[in-house]
Amino acid sequence: IKQGRLRIAAVTTTKYFMPRLLGPFCAQYPGVDIALEVVNRDRLLERLARNQDDLYVMGVPPDELDIEREPFLDNPLVVLAPVSHRLARRKRIPFAALANEPFVLRERGSGTRLTVERVFQEHNVPLKIRMELGSNEAIQQAVAGGLGLTILSRSTLSPDPGDRDLAVLNVEGFPIERHWYVVRARHKQLSVVAQTFLDFLRTHVQLLEPRKGKP
Ligand code: PGA
Repeated sequence: IKQGRLRIAAVTTTKYFMPRLLGPFCAQYPGVDIALEVVNRDRLLERLARNQDDLYVMGVPPDELDIEREPFLDNPLVVLAPVSHRLARRKRIPFAALANEPFVLRERGSGTRLTVERVFQEHNVPLKIRMELGSNEAIQQAVAGGLGLTILSRSTLSPDPGDRDLAVLNVEGFPIERHWYVVRARHKQLSVVAQTFLDFLRTHVQLLEPRKGKP
């Protein structure tokens, strides 16, 4: 392909890895013009329902829409605390211990938030929300500052979370193993450009694996 337009909508948390894939793709196909829309899961589902983009990238695909989904990368959820927190050095923390902790969580409409609420419901444990924030970075700063614990995708973390004064807690049932999915409307014929990007994603997924150690 020499030229064309590719429209991708991806949830907020994918900003930690999607650009790393788009760079090499653009280098290989310089004539392709890419629009990447970064929104939370609810906004992304609206775009999907209105058929606004070629491809969608998200962690929690909807059951209610007629879509094809393909997992391409791990997306584990981890519990984070400030390094100085009393749970930070404990091993095998029971899930029920989270009931007493205040949480700083993503906004309603986020896939992360949806999963956290589902998991607490499954464990029948009350979820105490002290603060909602729409940004993964702001949440990490709030947690490092002592406002509470959080649960976020590991994609948001640097190889050494201690750099940000954060500790990954060893809570029973965590990390919650999930995936990143590329999603498309089942009825929609993919453009040549979109199909090329999908093939590129499949063959270059190793570019997205977390880098080991410090840069
Ligand atoms: P979010 O989605 O950025 O809307 O929270 C992330 C996910 O579903 O893992």
